[in-house]
Amino acid sequence: MLVIGSGAREHALCEALRADPTVHGLMCAPGNAGTDTVAESRPVDTSDPLAIADLAAAVAVDLVVIGPEAPLVAGAADAVRGKGIACFGPSAAAARLEGSKDFAKAVMAAAGVPTAESRSCRSGAELSDALDLFGPPYVVKDDGLAAGKGVVVTADREVASAHGEVLVAAGRVVVVEEFLAGPEVSLFAVTDGATVLPLLPAQDFKRIGDGDIGPNTGGMGAYCPLPWLPPGFVDDVLSRVLRPTVEEMAHRGTPYIGLLYAGLVLTATGPRVIEFNARFGDPETQVVLALLESPLAGLLYAAATGTLAEQPPLRWTDRSAVTVVAAAEGYPGTPHVGEVVLGATGEGILHAGTRRGADGQVLVAGGRVLSVTATGPTLEAARAEAYARLSTVDWPGMRYRTDIAAAAVRGEISVSL
Ligand code: AMP
Ligand code: GLY
Repeated sequence: MLVIGSGAREHALCEALRADPTVHGLMCAPGNAGTDTVAESRPVDTSDPLAIADLAAAVAVDLVVIGPEAPLVAGAADAVRGKGIACFGPSAAAARLEGSKDFAKAVMAAAGVPTAESRSCRSGAELSDALDLFGPPYVVKDDGLAAGKGVVVTADREVASAHGEVLVAAGRVVVVEEFLAGPEVSLFAVTDGATVLPLLPAQDFKRIGDGDIGPNTGGMGAYCPLPWLPPGFVDDVLSRVLRPTVEEMAHRGTPYIGLLYAGLVLTATGPRVIEFNARFGDPETQVVLALLESPLAGLLYAAATGTLAEQPPLRWTDRSAVTVVAAAEGYPGTPHVGEVVLGATGEGILHAGTRRGADGQVLVAGGRVLSVTATGPTLEAARAEAYARLSTVDWPGMRYRTDIAAAAVRGEISVSL
């Protein structure tokens, strides 16, 4: 098997695939200083679909699992399948669900999926009208891929307008939408284009600072499962969001194969979609896979080969999992790289922006550096263990949130349904 990517998500995927007894060989391209302990690293330009497909053919794997969104949107899954190799990941046409928020809104409208009201703006005048239409708090999004950093949510019209104006001036489509109030949930589903298998719901922490302060990031921590969810939540999202979306994509002749990630807000009137992603979420994957007992390789292979309906029901431990991201100084801006990471090899320490120095030391090589993960019999125990593991890691510019899963442990998250 070949996993494409170099984040903690891919490290978690590699560990779970490695634990599946049907997997005899595992490679990760390009990988990082953590994946290289469980999978053979191969260099690859992940922005080049043909390079990915050529690598898959050269190493003669049975399955390619594509981690990040950029190669999917660029057509890596099409290129791999073009070589006759099974691939877990949507085609470029289907990955537009993540690659264009405007496209995702059109699919949701056609499928009757509940989401925030929105306007797609191509000029300053359209932008200004849309801001007035929805009012504060303003939600202004880059239509295209922006690594979680294209969204501004603010009560300040000047800030909202300035973000939108910069995007319009750069020729980007700007999506302005209604603000949705309520706790956020990430629900992943594995699908072969027809059968849809939901995983456990998780929650991510998008802002850089404690108390959800500061700019958006790719995600600073996560926990799973969510003790405060109303009963029937997963079935509800399955029937109102995931299945209709997969059916609509099939109906359009662009079947969705891979991982469909629904980013939801649990509003007073029920769950509504704020975004779709076309791949496993990072850092949610680290906690979701920590609880999955079913062999992962068989599941992903079944999705890639259209045989998901024959899979047995997924099995989960009844434990909880927490992951805390340790980030480099400067993130989500330009990270300070090159520092030596101490304690980067303990249990549950998943690597993201790391690389190995000439002497084998682990060096900071990106914004999110490690994703420190633990499970426990309760959410409180998992949280305590994750922070205990984090305390064994150190480098001069290390930054992390201290409040991952804290409100849930204190029972402070409530849903008014
Ligand atoms: P996205 O990249 O679309 O997931 O947006 C990043 C983050 O911005 C989300 O995780 C939310 O915290 C916030 N956000 C996006 N859309 C909305 C919305 N319509 N209402 C409230 N918050 C939002
Ligand atoms: N955790 C958010 C994302 O993967 O986009």
